[in-house]
Amino acid sequence: MDVKKRIERAFEASKKAYIPYSHFAVGATIEMKDGTWFDGCNIENAAYGSTMCAERNAIYQAYCHGYRKEDIATLTIVAYGKEVVTPCGACRQVLAELMLPETPIILANPTKHLITNIKALLPGAFLEEDLHV
Ligand code: THU
Repeated sequence: MDVKKRIERAFEASKKAYIPYSHFAVGATIEMKDGTWFDGCNIENAAYGSTMCAERNAIYQAYCHGYRKEDIATLTIVAYGKEVVTPCGACRQVLAELMLPETPIILANPTKHLITNIKALLPGAFLEEDLHV
């Protein structure tokens, strides 16, 4: 897997972040198994809770184009922090539903990266099957 290429693409996506409040740019890119890519960046709002994270923007785009979890090859999330970026709780919940448990997730900053998956990032996630009583 060409990790560098994915990280570079996600940093490119981060350039479009709308971040007047945090000034913390995040970029994400999703590679589909058919070779299509969807990019995302964080979009903030004066009503802070209306902010949307980069990785959710990317994965929602994939779903809006008709793709589903089985179609996703990798998700990459990047930011310029001291450590590799770590997805927030809301994103982990969304990714747990919209990705397969072991699909690779690359988390990176400009100097290092970590390859993980949503099963490791959110063990014991509440999922659709848990609604069946
Ligand atoms: N943010 C993301 O877009 N993704 C993450 O994985 C971590 C946090 C955004 C949300 C907000 O716009 C800014 O980073 C600071 O929290």
